[in-house]
Amino acid sequence: MRMVDLIEKKRNGAELTEEEIKFIIEGYTNDDIPDYQLSALAMAVYFNGMTQSESAHLTMAMVESGDQIDLSAIEGIKVDKHSTGGVGDTTTLVLAPLVAAVGVPVAKMSGRGLGHTGGTIDKLESVAGFNVEINNDEFNRLVNDNKVAVVGQTGNLTPADKKLYALRDVTATVDSIPLIASSIMSKKIASGADAIVLDVKTGSGAFMKELEGAKSLAKAMVQIGNEVGRQTTAVISDMSQPLGRAIGNSLEVKEAIDTLKGKGPSDLHELCLVLGSHMVYLAKKAESIEDARMMLEEAMNNGQALETFKTFLAAQGGDAAVVDQPEQLPTATFAFDVKAKESGYVSEIVADKIGTAAMLLGAGRATKDSTIDLAVGLVLNKKIGDKVELGDSLVTIHSNQEDVQDVIDKIYESYSMTKEDVELLPLIYDVINE
Ligand code: URA
Ligand code: CA
Repeated sequence: MRMVDLIEKKRNGAELTEEEIKFIIEGYTNDDIPDYQLSALAMAVYFNGMTQSESAHLTMAMVESGDQIDLSAIEGIKVDKHSTGGVGDTTTLVLAPLVAAVGVPVAKMSGRGLGHTGGTIDKLESVAGFNVEINNDEFNRLVNDNKVAVVGQTGNLTPADKKLYALRDVTATVDSIPLIASSIMSKKIASGADAIVLDVKTGSGAFMKELEGAKSLAKAMVQIGNEVGRQTTAVISDMSQPLGRAIGNSLEVKEAIDTLKGKGPSDLHELCLVLGSHMVYLAKKAESIEDARMMLEEAMNNGQALETFKTFLAAQGGDAAVVDQPEQLPTATFAFDVKAKESGYVSEIVADKIGTAAMLLGAGRATKDSTIDLAVGLVLNKKIGDKVELGDSLVTIHSNQEDVQDVIDKIYESYSMTKEDVELLPLIYDVINE
């Protein structure tokens, strides 16, 4: 087989076979095929797309390019959740103990935050002593005993995706639905998921800003999952403003604790119940989505979800006392209110600008090597549709520095106000499972 022939085939709009796709991905991973040939192929895919079976073969070829996590020692159907990323997205912190509380095994591999999106590992590390560096046997044992454990990224997972994603980044080929879909799905499958729930975000703070694009991506990922034997459901959810009220590591842990008690912000509460119901259903712990939701609501109301969170934190060395006394979490020295300059209704909160404001405070990393401050962040006191009087606090800044003018400027930039009542956007746009 010659790479040049395969580029030509794809350029002419024909379908590549499983064998051809394997040849390309293995050759590229081993440095037998150069970047310039993969660039040409990626551009051909960008213009001609990929069929369902091509995308599935690409996904599996990338899965097989590196290590695969073996979760077979863990009992039950392992359902993983993936979010395409957003600002103040506290869902994983809530969902892990919540679905574990009703018996779904959560064997979660998670990452650190970069740019304006946060990482679950950073958030969990605001609990003193919490350790994510646990070995395989320990990880399996914890999930079997407690139904939940979270580990940092280990192993050499999907090296082909790492290399291809970096190449796409500099060849204007990131923006291709089949390439994004295979990239995301390959990582989930390599980390051992039997079934997958995807939270595909849309809106100003999302990777896919337009609803149509988010739907196409969701469909492509669901089709890949179903084609390769991993039942997949995608929920399309709103990220036109940050999720919940808290953005920042320890602030989000506190928000997660409130939500596990059933007292969280309404959008975060609802999204966790929707995503959680699909996880419980795919794990075959409920007969229907409706039953699954009732089980989760009960676990919130009877304290089981909160108990599971405590057990989980303590099992990984964390100080579980913070669950009853969240004031023991890292706390910033200063709190400043950003006050409304006019009366009206909030019509817009540009999520990624709010994410940047939180990053400027030190809550997120500007580069991979930046250090973060777990105590700092933002709490949104007003969200879209809320009525505001002149001088009301829009946002509380939790800071360890006294000069936060740049943060205040970003917050004013992200908020828009109108005089008329605002029509609210839906939180959930669609659920796709075929
Ligand atoms: N996120 C990914 O993991 N891969 C892509 O290709 C795009 C976004
Ligand atoms: Ca939040």
